[in-house]
Amino acid sequence: MSKIIAILNQKGGAGKTTLSTNLARALQLDGDKVLLVDSDPQGSARDWNAAANGELLPVVGLDRVTLAKDIQAIQDNQDWLIIDGAPQIAELAVAAIKCADIILIPVQPSPYDVWACEDLVDIIKTRQEVTNGKPKAAFVISRVIKNTQLSKEIGEALEGYNLPVFKSYTSQRVIYPKSAATGSTVLDAEQANEAAAEIRAIAKELKEFINA
Ligand SMILES: Nc1ncnc2c1ncn2[C@@H]1O[C@H](COP(=O)(O)OP(=O)(O)O)[C@@H](O)[C@H]1O
Ligand SMILES: [Mg+2]
Repeated sequence: MSKIIAILNQKGGAGKTTLSTNLARALQLDGDKVLLVDSDPQGSARDWNAAANGELLPVVGLDRVTLAKDIQAIQDNQDWLIIDGAPQIAELAVAAIKCADIILIPVQPSPYDVWACEDLVDIIKTRQEVTNGKPKAAFVISRVIKNTQLSKEIGEALEGYNLPVFKSYTSQRVIYPKSAATGSTVLDAEQANEAAAEIRAIAKELKEFINA
């Protein structure tokens, strides 16, 4: 059985596609079979994949409300399905929540971004109530700016939602957009870099979270 991870946040720019592509690559480099599912009608993950002629990762576009059913049809032989979530499309988010084992919510360290998660958290919790806690969900803070007190405060603000917050996070680094421009990831950069370490830490924490 494949593990289905949905990366969701109704807000555009939260870091969904960045986390989806990099996390998918990290899991693949760990030796697993990974399929990236682009549920955003804008097709950012598909554009990313096309920029590398599809050589890095398999990516499929499933951006209809039949997502949960469609996923069933393609999940054979995969270890992981990573769903890159769509912004602002409630039905698609609900469909992804229905079929996911784990939901990761990337959120930028700003109060507006924290407040904007409220509807999504409500939908997730409503689902968890009827399904014995499935899917498990956690926040992953994205684009942390070094040496800011704010990031710590945001961690505390998110605790109000009563969902776990990953200890690992991504920092604001040029290598994220720069690598994406060529359909690549921070893990494929020529030199070892701190962004790659961040992504590997998130992948590791995800595996611990699944097994916890
Ligand atoms: N950690 C980061 N550091 C620098 N830029 C980032 C980081 N995460 C995301 N970005 C950039 O921010 C923008 C929005 O991120 P993206 O992953 O596309 O968000 P979403 O898919 O939620 O709309 C993109 O241009 C992306 O390259
Ligand atoms: Mg996106």
